[in-house]
Amino acid sequence: MDRNLAMEVVRVTEMAAIASARLMGRGNKDESDQAAVDAMRRAFDALQIDGTVVIGEGERDEAPMLYIGEKVGKRGEGAPEVDIALDPLEGTNLCAYGRPGSIAVVAMAGKGGLLNAPDTYMEKMAVGPRARGAIDLRKTPTENLRSIAEKMKVYVEDLTVVVLDRERHTDLIKEIRAAGARIRLIEDGDVAGAIATCFEDTGVEVLMGIGGAPEGVIAAAAIRATGGDMQGRLVPRNQGEIDRARSMGITDISKIYTAEELAKGEVMFAASGVTTGDFLKGVRFFGGGCETHSVVMRSKTGTVRFIQSVHKFDKKPGYAF
Ligand code: FBP
Repeated sequence: MDRNLAMEVVRVTEMAAIASARLMGRGNKDESDQAAVDAMRRAFDALQIDGTVVIGEGERDEAPMLYIGEKVGKRGEGAPEVDIALDPLEGTNLCAYGRPGSIAVVAMAGKGGLLNAPDTYMEKMAVGPRARGAIDLRKTPTENLRSIAEKMKVYVEDLTVVVLDRERHTDLIKEIRAAGARIRLIEDGDVAGAIATCFEDTGVEVLMGIGGAPEGVIAAAAIRATGGDMQGRLVPRNQGEIDRARSMGITDISKIYTAEELAKGEVMFAASGVTTGDFLKGVRFFGGGCETHSVVMRSKTGTVRFIQSVHKFDKKPGYAF
């Protein structure tokens, strides 16, 4: 996966971000999501790849576009074969209500590089590069916080943990408080929450809790590219989800996956801000155009590029939506 491809992929997330940001605050999450999906699907047509969506909008019968198994890209001779995990609008409600932290994301890896995660939940723990090697999902949150603090040479009280604000996290939140760490509760968007741990100026060091499994794979690709650390364990809600996981080739449902097992080999990750969040600004519209903020990272080099783009709609009518 070469560096030029990384720069191309950012166009895909930019397009999805612009399309959904146009509808920010309208209170209609399906509408913003659909706009992002349509735009991302169109943008993929311009990419010189032979791509297969492995994590997308759902199964073929429930999602007409960017469904699991869909082929995307121009393909043809010389086009690299890649597997793709995408979320055209991660944090649909955040965008629909104009709240911070929604992003458009695409992760790519070589064939078979991304875990084909079923649409169930995943228990996740993520940290930035400074705490690499200090996490273990088999241990309690308190033990993990102590080990993270020790590795980072700080006190547990100095750590801020991102947690999705959900009832299922009542005990987790109690335990984090008792351990002495600070908590940032987020309404949605644990992909951005996980990535935020890899950027020091966000002020968050750890992500803990249960969120979507597909989002876990996407976050793992970003964590791999930044040199952070992550573990995940599937948390199926019912027998149907267990059966589905088995049919997708997962034999050990309670396996703890490392970031490398969730997103193997060379990976690439791109995200564009839809609404302003911890590490990316959202789309800003002005007369005749807009400005987007994106990040592109590759595990091969570890380079993290922040890209601020100004789009002129008269010159790029495709971006006007
Ligand atoms: P959507 O963008 O699909 O709305 O997902 C948002 C999200 O908050 C994810 O970031 C997270 O992994 C998942 O939903 C959590 O699921 P739930 O809302 O069921 O707790």
